Amino acid sequence: MFAIRLKVWVVKFPHLELEMALQSVLKQFQSQLVTTVHDQLLEYNTLFLFLLLILPLVILILLKQYLLKSEHKLNLPPSPPKLPVIGNLHQLGTLPHRSLQALSHKYGPLMLLHLGSSSTLVVSSADMASEMVKTRDIVFSNRPKTTAANIFLYGCRDIGFAPYGEYWRHARKICVLELLSMKRVQSFTYVRLEEVEILINKIRLSCFDGGIIDLTVMLQAVVNNVVSRCVLGRKAEEENGPGKFGVLSRRVMILFTAFCFGDVFPSLAWLDVVTGHIGRINTTFKAIDALLDQVIEEHRTSNGDDVDDQFDKKDFVHILLQLQKDGMFEIDLTQNDIKAILMDMFVGGTDTTSTTLEWAMAELLRHPNIMKKAQEEVRSVVKNKAKIDMNDIDEMNYLKCVIKETLRLHAPVPLLVPRETSTITKLGGYDIPEKTRVFVNAWAIQRDPKLWDRPEEFIPERYVNNPIDYKGLDFHFIPFGAGRRGCPGISFGVATVEYTLANILYWFDWKQPGGAIDNDKLDMSEVNGLTAPKKFPLRLVPTLYSP
Ligand code: HEM
Repeated sequence: MFAIRLKVWVVKFPHLELEMALQSVLKQFQSQLVTTVHDQLLEYNTLFLFLLLILPLVILILLKQYLLKSEHKLNLPPSPPKLPVIGNLHQLGTLPHRSLQALSHKYGPLMLLHLGSSSTLVVSSADMASEMVKTRDIVFSNRPKTTAANIFLYGCRDIGFAPYGEYWRHARKICVLELLSMKRVQSFTYVRLEEVEILINKIRLSCFDGGIIDLTVMLQAVVNNVVSRCVLGRKAEEENGPGKFGVLSRRVMILFTAFCFGDVFPSLAWLDVVTGHIGRINTTFKAIDALLDQVIEEHRTSNGDDVDDQFDKKDFVHILLQLQKDGMFEIDLTQNDIKAILMDMFVGGTDTTSTTLEWAMAELLRHPNIMKKAQEEVRSVVKNKAKIDMNDIDEMNYLKCVIKETLRLHAPVPLLVPRETSTITKLGGYDIPEKTRVFVNAWAIQRDPKLWDRPEEFIPERYVNNPIDYKGLDFHFIPFGAGRRGCPGISFGVATVEYTLANILYWFDWKQPGGAIDNDKLDMSEVNGLTAPKKFPLRLVPTLYSP
């Protein structure tokens, strides 16, 4: 383009020599110019390439700065004042569900707490829980990874702590369809019947001695055995106390909820090594891992021949190995994945169930009229039969109301299992940032005076002719949680609670040592752990009932 323009200008010049001289100069200039332009173009190209590479980086940095700035502009839920470093950690107290309920009275149904370095949203109303599950369930369906869950559950390859995604979906499907379905729960009836009979015989013997029994320990033993036999095909407890598996699973429960620096202050995770916490977890994990390997190996070598055709006699290990053999998994489950799922059944199914039974008995003792009414119902349904069968339970409507009221006042998992947001979202008009931990205070919701009449009182009658159930569709009653992450073990847990409670009410009359039956004499304090059981065990005097 330059060359053409120059030529036009040169043609208009009058003298030939001058014109030639000029043309030669111009040619030189032109070729220099072309070279320069070429060089410049090259330079431009390099610059362009450089910009092409650097620009996304610059945009990213600017975007991050913008997001960081805009985060400050987020409309976050109210937060109580916090201390440096620990944030609101000191405000949790020894019973977090109670402290958080008190804080929610001041700061509202959505609060953002800072527990060490993690932001934690506390949901304390049925409306907010409903909005969370009904409109934003997927975003709220992740779980935070804790150190103990990560080690004990093989890198969270279980169901309860697995991150929301394909693996969790498949593992949960197996669990819901194959392990915890109604049909499977019914197939384990024989385990429940046998274990409860052992319990009743044990208590009966102590009636002849006229002594005090520790009902708490006995209830834990019966539940551990039911779960252990259904899951592994072997007992957790022996005649004189916990067996090897029982001891180990108890240690797991304790270590699962023990304080861990790394979970609250990731930069201080090394302290868990120094204090020996990680060492203790690893030792217990290795022992339980070896035991699970042994159980699986025994099941593999027995090849399931003994139970192949007996749907009713298969434990979870048999079922999982059979599904694996038949190629029925949509994903490849490794041996570790199977062990993680088996562990989940213990973590999710034992303490929750025995805690419910313990609180039900405590409330019945404090309310002799309700105890009498429940016993009359059970005894009139069973009449003089030697054994209660599962069909009898269907007719025990008042007993079912007693259990519901127990789960309302004493939700075994008061803050449900923590969730974590997978992306930034909205709730109740507030912005909730990505990776925020979420506690749903079911304990507070189930005692909310706006939703429940006389909320602090134990009144099983409130469920008579009331269709409310455990499925998590009524957000003022969510002892098993709700939504995609809701408990898949409802039928399993409730069947064990109903059958055990019916039996201990049918066969015995109960009183406290010294004959105290008035409400105030029974200490109802709780402790916080994986569940919230009674602080003091139920030490009671049973009397054999004679129809
Ligand atoms: C009275 C008995 C029980 C109570 C009160 C209870 C309560 C709960 C609660 C509150 C959750 C968390 C729900 C949520 O995040 O919304 C949960 C989850 C879970 N429970 Fe239960 N549970 C009981 C029995 C069982 C039993 C018997 C099993 C298995 C044998 C079991 C297995 C699980 C599992 C695997 C999860 C995790 C689900 C997931 O994250 O997808 N639970 N349970």
